[in-house]
Amino acid sequence: SDESFIAYAAAAPNLALIKYWGKRDSRLVLPLNNSISVTLDDQLMRTVTIATASPEFAEDSVELNGKPAEVTDRMRAVLQSLRQRCQRGQDLASWKVRVATRNSFPTAAGLASSSSGFADTLRWLSTVARLGSGSACRSLFAGFAEWSAGQRPDGVDSTASQLASAGHWDLRVLVCVVGAGAKSAPSTQAMARTVATSSLLPARLSCLPDRLAAVREAVAGRDFASLAEMSMRDSNCLHAVCADTYPPVHYLTDASRAIIDFVHRLNEASGRVVLGYTADAGPNVCLLAQPADVHLAAGCLQRAFDIGPVVGDLGEAADNSKVPSGWAGDGSEGATARHRIESLLICRLGRGALDIPQAEAAA
Ligand code: PMV
Repeated sequence: SDESFIAYAAAAPNLALIKYWGKRDSRLVLPLNNSISVTLDDQLMRTVTIATASPEFAEDSVELNGKPAEVTDRMRAVLQSLRQRCQRGQDLASWKVRVATRNSFPTAAGLASSSSGFADTLRWLSTVARLGSGSACRSLFAGFAEWSAGQRPDGVDSTASQLASAGHWDLRVLVCVVGAGAKSAPSTQAMARTVATSSLLPARLSCLPDRLAAVREAVAGRDFASLAEMSMRDSNCLHAVCADTYPPVHYLTDASRAIIDFVHRLNEASGRVVLGYTADAGPNVCLLAQPADVHLAAGCLQRAFDIGPVVGDLGEAADNSKVPSGWAGDGSEGATARHRIESLLICRLGRGALDIPQAEAAA
């Protein structure tokens, strides 16, 4: 109707380099530690959300990829928080909302689709986005973002902010999609179980301040070797803490671990850090690379894995694009099975959450 209010937005997932794992307050979604992420480009992986508020709607509703979805408690908390902050007068604050979200990448498989889905509905307030999915608040920002744990019980100091723009450092992320099935344990339940049972979690938390400082410094100084090493260490640490959870939480598969081992072998054979890796709450492994190494990395992956479509900008073959001599990533390991990578998505860093024109939302 004429009275309804419609907003169109797009967002892309973010990839945590220093992971958020564990809440100090579950209801307010306040994390135990700061986290740092890169927001991916929305060219390849994009969530488009159309939110319509109307006095004619009898109740709030959510549609995901064209199918009605449950209005979860999280979603209710987000809508309630938005209504409380409504600037457009009493009317809109009482109207029900229809949220229709479409993803251009597999949902619930550890590609952080919850982060982009919630972020684009709520781009202007990281404290609201946080209520939908903690990590969502980082997807609001272009380039590099940090979400502060904060200290206050009411959480007003737990906000996200930009660490550096996408233009500051032209990094590439190679998303190795190894399984598009649903992730084995939803992150909210899994991290609650970690907090309740893992004796390694306190050790993780105590080493994070130094690791966070190293990442901030690596970003500021565009130090790839350091950023890659910190990301790899933190990813390994997260999955170790998951394994120490009782009962354990497993996100990585044999294929994920084969990719991780591949990165270490390639770096060693190259005598430098060509790639870093990191994996969130799912089996997909994301590789960090400098633009001049993308071609080399994709070529080496193709030798070592049974690999599906490669999507995105491979870049030009650079001087250093030769496969290192003595490289054992070509399947010469003999008995080891060649693992499958369903597809390889090559992304740049992204622009954060955006208002988009209606025509683009419909496309
Ligand atoms: O925001 P959630 O509840 O989807 O949890 C995200 C958890 C990790 O992806 C593993 C880490 C992170 O910081 O994104």
